[in-house]
Amino acid sequence: MRTLRFTADPLHPESEASRQSIARCAEILRGGGTVAFPTETVYGLGAHALDANAVAKIFVAKQRPSWDPLIVHLGEERMLGLLVSEIPENARRLIAIFWPGPLTLLLPRKREVPDLVTAGLPRVGVRMPAHPIAHALLREAGIPVAAPSANSFGRISPTRADHVAEDLDGRIDAILDGGETTHGVESTVVLVTDDESVIYRPGVITLEQIRAVCTGSVSAREFSESSGRAGQPLPSPGMDHRHYAPRARLILVGGNGETQKSDFGEAARRAEEAGEAVGLMLPDAFQSAVIGRTARVFRWGRWDDEEELAHRLFAGLRWLDAAGVTAIVCPLPPGRGVAVAIRDRLMRAARQ
Ligand code: TXA
Ligand code: MG
Repeated sequence: MRTLRFTADPLHPESEASRQSIARCAEILRGGGTVAFPTETVYGLGAHALDANAVAKIFVAKQRPSWDPLIVHLGEERMLGLLVSEIPENARRLIAIFWPGPLTLLLPRKREVPDLVTAGLPRVGVRMPAHPIAHALLREAGIPVAAPSANSFGRISPTRADHVAEDLDGRIDAILDGGETTHGVESTVVLVTDDESVIYRPGVITLEQIRAVCTGSVSAREFSESSGRAGQPLPSPGMDHRHYAPRARLILVGGNGETQKSDFGEAARRAEEAGEAVGLMLPDAFQSAVIGRTARVFRWGRWDDEEELAHRLFAGLRWLDAAGVTAIVCPLPPGRGVAVAIRDRLMRAARQ
């Protein structure tokens, strides 16, 4: 299949050129086709959420296993009524504050939602993206759009249209290029009820922010080496597998302060001595630790600016992969906020 390329300008979504691109892509979605489009987190691969045949095309294109459920994207809040049978008070509060934005709510599904979307689970994931192009596309399409990240299954999420093309060119109907995405890590996924809420995937909206809004208990399901091992129940299936992974082996360096910097330098040295072609995710503050190393370097950005680190994370991993390195050495940003999401993605990516 030939993948069509369209362009829309997020600063001018109302321009004639943007509107034409958006209109064509909306038409493809309504007709049961697949379109990759930018959101404020990462690019998504969309299809008509209430059309099981259309949704099936996403799984084929991504080579995604059918046990992994999809998030449904909405352009208008009233569309929730098509998908969910009940909206707890806590969910209403979160919606009022964080939508449109990078927050996915898991809510009781209606029967009309195809099983393929929810992987047969009792809840459906829903979110309203804030990105101007995503927003315009969803409103123009007038349908709920199921969209996972637009990468091959298990690989690094795309933050640019070129990343999408690397994985999916020739496998999907269209790519809508709206430039780089804003945040660079995926939405926070939270299961909400009125007594208890659980964050299944950390993201830009933090545990603290959700706690400030919800009544009842709010907890986070931390990623750990043991989660999702055989025999354990998987309340949110896609969370427990190797994910976001570069082809190169990923070597993570934890800790903080000067010790983390010297450990980072040491890890780079050891990998080089072991004969690896080494790539570095190198924050500005770590440069002095790797003087004299021959590694390929991705300038990650300012170590004290988590937003920037999140924004450039996936692009850096993809870039080093493309450069042909066999091992990537990467420090884990300590701290709270979006650093939690960055650590989560890196730890999943490093998992064998
Ligand atoms: O920021 C994002 O959320 C991006 C953009 C495109 O919106 N989308 C995204 O989708 O990251 P995806 O498919 O890569 O990750 C969705 C994950 C699933 O793997 C699963 O763990 C969880 O969200 N999820 C979705 N629907 C669920 C459901 N009904 N029950 C439990 N978990 C669900
Ligand atoms: Mg994904």
